[in-house]
Amino acid sequence: MLQVTRRQLLQRGALAWAAAHPLARRAGARRVPLSPFRAGVASGEPDHLGVVLWTRVFPDSAVAAIEVVWELSADPGFTTLRRSGEFTTTADHAHCIHVVAEPGPGEWYYRFRALGFTSPVGRTVIAPAAGATSLRLAAASCQHFESGYYAAHRDIAAQRPDLVLWLGDYIYEDAAARQGAPAVRRHEGGEARTLSDYRARYAQYKSDPDLQAAHAACAWLVMWDDHEVEDNYAGLTPTSPAEAATFPARRDAAYQAWWEHTPTRLAPPVAETEYRVYRTAAWSDLASFVLLDGRQYRTDQACGDRALSLDPPCAALHEPGRTMLGSAQEQFLEERLSASTARWRVIGNQTVMADATVNGSVLNFDQWDGYPDERSRIFAILADRHVANVVVLTGDIHLAAVAQLRQGDPGSGPPIGVEFVSTSISSPGLVPTDLAPILRRFPAMVGAELAHRGYVLHTVTPQRWTAAYRIVADVTDQSSAVSTVATYAVEAGTNTVSLMDG
Ligand SMILES: [Fe+2]
Repeated sequence: MLQVTRRQLLQRGALAWAAAHPLARRAGARRVPLSPFRAGVASGEPDHLGVVLWTRVFPDSAVAAIEVVWELSADPGFTTLRRSGEFTTTADHAHCIHVVAEPGPGEWYYRFRALGFTSPVGRTVIAPAAGATSLRLAAASCQHFESGYYAAHRDIAAQRPDLVLWLGDYIYEDAAARQGAPAVRRHEGGEARTLSDYRARYAQYKSDPDLQAAHAACAWLVMWDDHEVEDNYAGLTPTSPAEAATFPARRDAAYQAWWEHTPTRLAPPVAETEYRVYRTAAWSDLASFVLLDGRQYRTDQACGDRALSLDPPCAALHEPGRTMLGSAQEQFLEERLSASTARWRVIGNQTVMADATVNGSVLNFDQWDGYPDERSRIFAILADRHVANVVVLTGDIHLAAVAQLRQGDPGSGPPIGVEFVSTSISSPGLVPTDLAPILRRFPAMVGAELAHRGYVLHTVTPQRWTAAYRIVADVTDQSSAVSTVATYAVEAGTNTVSLMDG
């Protein structure tokens, strides 16, 4: 029955497409029409039953709905289908597809068919139900399209991890670089402000073959940071006060486009209401994840959001009620960390959690140093409740770092966890590279590398967490070499990180 229905669907789709497509109407036309699967495929948020399968269909003309078939198989040749189904995409959601397929644990392959075309094939790995003994996890963020190519994504695809944790800045909202400014390629259009702007920006980013390869390699857990909306926005406060009246509509548009282009189990956002994206995930009983939203609920950055100043902070830094997470999310984090029975408790986080102050001066008010009282509360709960094996994975800051998290004094307090900060996939460094030796001397810092782009490849077992820092030799070269610059390890039960190699 399904076979017949699928064939009928494909025929109907192909006819509709041919009727609308000028090249197909011309007999003997030599140009091959473009596949509607120009954004590739993706999967996300696996649990022990299944995973979300994602794609976007680009029709050649405005159509309200397109019927799409999805197929899932144990082998990349699709000799036998394990699961399949049909899905109707609509223009309301930019013809994006979110399907939950539940084939059970293991490695699976999936593809889509629509408008007479077949999509590329994606691989996905579904979490074991229990007793997992390993997880290979790539943590990455910040892929400014103009600033570099995605050799790091090519390397992620080649590594074939089990999971990618995306920590934010999937797109950047800014306009195309000025003529003459350094850029390996250019954004199309001006600064994204409307739903169609954000959709077009996602389409441009997702046209990159290396990014498509990384998505096709395994499932992703995707969080956002600020640039999915606007640089350093805080709640409903835009960077520019002049935009205060229009910013809520802009944020709604950005959240909508984020949902459309993310392989997530979340329901789509509803305009003018909170969109709760902080959530949990798990890899069997080996690792539990709390994925944080550090942007939607935060109080505006204090002290004018100045950067790299050694002046003492203003009094507003310690105002009661200052928050990065909001009280509900803070409570959610503390409860989920305390209740987790997994060996490793992972926090997917945007901004640097380790103390990087200098004699009380805050170098970056956008990071957790700008929300010190909330951080102290979280660290105190981890210590008081003896929550062990906490690993914080952080993006945002475009540098690679490893930090020892301690309660109280950052150099001598009791260790309560470890933070691995992954550098950007392609976005430019924000801190001068000659400050690396100074950064490494900060009490909380175990390692820092400022000169390269890349990501971190984590290997997790019940006994040990290992973090390999992968760096791109030349981000302006699409075929650049990618290598490991340093490897760090945490032995289970120690809350303490050490350099293994590098
Ligand atoms: Fe970024």
